[in-house]
Amino acid sequence: MKVLVAYESKYGATQGIAERIGERLRGHGLEVEVVRCSVLRDATGFDAYVVGSATYEFNWRKGARKFVEHNAGVLSTHPTWLFSSGPLGTETVDKDGKDVLKGAEPKQFADFGYLVHPKGTQVFRGAYHHDETRGGDRILAWMPAIRDILPEGDFREWEAMDAWADAIADELGAKTPA
Ligand SMILES: Cc1cc2nc3c(=O)[nH]c(=O)nc-3n(C[C@H](O)[C@H](O)[C@H](O)COP(=O)(O)O)c2cc1C
Repeated sequence: MKVLVAYESKYGATQGIAERIGERLRGHGLEVEVVRCSVLRDATGFDAYVVGSATYEFNWRKGARKFVEHNAGVLSTHPTWLFSSGPLGTETVDKDGKDVLKGAEPKQFADFGYLVHPKGTQVFRGAYHHDETRGGDRILAWMPAIRDILPEGDFREWEAMDAWADAIADELGAKTPA
């Protein structure tokens, strides 16, 4: 069974998540390709799809949005899962007591829910380093108010990705790793 893991990433954190999920799915005996959305464009030829993007200002990156819209016909007729990488820090609830991962869901989870009927959606914590930012992000990164809401560090939870990939493999009927 061939699985496509397609992603969009600005600074590499989401690419790392996509590669980890791909590697874990391979461990279940699945044939997996991990490709940037804007490079592939046409998603035909796979049996299942995992599509993810970094979240910026509550939205997926444009390349991932276009990829899903362009391939909605294929994605809606095959098992498809969506993920995003976003919240920074380790808190599980925000100052109002709301679940941080739930609150970080990109707008596209709702929009694409209707479009491609994903079997699952998942938010993963991301990574961010002020010194790696470019352009407008670099200007934002130096603003004290922004520094407070964008804590620096690599908060990616590898075990959570593995568990999610294991559940996907299970739903696809793949074998359990030895
Ligand atoms: C300017 C800026 C805006 C961001 N906006 C959000 C956001 O709205 N929601 C969120 O969860 N994370 C947000 N983040 C955090 C990024 O999504 C996170 O760092 C992600 O892991 C980056 O992935 P990438 O390296 O693949 O681009 C933002 C980061 C920056 C620099």
